[in-house]
Amino acid sequence: MPSKTPVGILGATGMVGQRFIQLLESHPWFEVAWLAASDRSSGKSYGEAAKWRLDSPLPQRIDRMTVSPAEPEGAPKVIFAALDAAIAREMEPRFAQAGCAVISNSSAFRMAADVPLVIPEVNGDHLRLIEEQASRRHSGGYMVTNPNCSAIGLVLALKPLEERFGLEKIFVTTMQAVSGAGYPGVPSMDILGNVVPYIGSEEEKMEAETLKLLGRFEGHAVAPLGARISASCNRVPVEDGHTEIVSIQLARPATREQILEAWAEFRPLAGKNLPSAPGQPVEFAPQDDRPQPRLDRNRGRGMTVTVGRLRPCALLDWKFTLLSHNTIRGAAGAAILNAEMLASQGRLVPALPEAEAMSAATRA
Ligand SMILES: NC(=O)c1ccc[n+]([C@@H]2O[C@H](COP(=O)([O-])OP(=O)(O)OC[C@H]3O[C@@H](n4cnc5c(N)ncnc54)[C@H](OP(=O)(O)O)[C@@H]3O)[C@@H](O)[C@H]2O)c1
Repeated sequence: MPSKTPVGILGATGMVGQRFIQLLESHPWFEVAWLAASDRSSGKSYGEAAKWRLDSPLPQRIDRMTVSPAEPEGAPKVIFAALDAAIAREMEPRFAQAGCAVISNSSAFRMAADVPLVIPEVNGDHLRLIEEQASRRHSGGYMVTNPNCSAIGLVLALKPLEERFGLEKIFVTTMQAVSGAGYPGVPSMDILGNVVPYIGSEEEKMEAETLKLLGRFEGHAVAPLGARISASCNRVPVEDGHTEIVSIQLARPATREQILEAWAEFRPLAGKNLPSAPGQPVEFAPQDDRPQPRLDRNRGRGMTVTVGRLRPCALLDWKFTLLSHNTIRGAAGAAILNAEMLASQGRLVPALPEAEAMSAATRA
């Protein structure tokens, strides 16, 4: 059996870092070989440094691993990054310049013109943007990002409709889980029995990222989709799973049956054998009272977006509700699927041979 690709996790002790550990534990292609976090954690065993928050046991091998300093020296060539945006802005380019493939969750570079913002089912062709990055030419390293945890569910539900009927207007209101704010996140006194109608920069991210994701790759850049979008984002007392209420105006008329058919037939990764790709990326729940976070967030091992309550909208054309798992489909699972897509395109392990990358790093 071919050996697995060693991977590292930057920000391994946080909410998303823990999901990476959980999802990678039995991954057929990748093996966690390096963990890094802040100076507070570095040098400790992972079990000592991290407050494990997930409902599966912390794997023993990981429990005993020492948390490394967050430096590229000695790190594997494939890095899953789960850092706060301000830290990612400084740290991710250093890893890319040192010849690493940085598969990032943070918002720091999502809207950069030469950084792909990718959902494999939606715009895998945008991965070619890595060839525009200076680090790719100098060391082979590059950065790839996955979207904001609310944008990803929305875009997966919209893509099949955009392909068949075109999209003119999108109006979306979110009800986002507390795990979306990391750990410890929103103080319990603020969120218990409450709704907070503001998540800093979230609405701007959802709007801009949605249009980039649905945009067209034009050789060296992405032209965003020319639709109008308005997002309102709220934090609600739910542990995991973001719910979104969506109204859309289409460019061409569609019946309810045609919309359901577009979602049901949307299986762009079928046959590609990517281990994290769900069989059905967008699944319709016919019951009147679904989707619900507790009942539907783990469909497709947390990688399927559930849509429901499809009905005519008196202001636009159609409205529906969607649900996606924010730390799996919205974060760690999304990044792992991006890495699988890069691997299937032969781009995952940076292209320059080690020796050449080292001499390039010395020249830089
Ligand atoms: N939670 C979600 O649902 C979600 C979804 C999509 C995207 N994201 C994005 O993913 C990223 C991580 O989110 P999270 O929820 O996992 O945050 P988190 O729980 O706050 O974890 C942050 C991680 O970064 C590490 N860190 C902090 N300062 C550092 C430094 N100076 N150098 C190296 N590592 C440092 C922390 O290590 P220590 O333990 O040592 O402090 C911890 O491992 C954010 O950009 C977030 O916006 C989150």
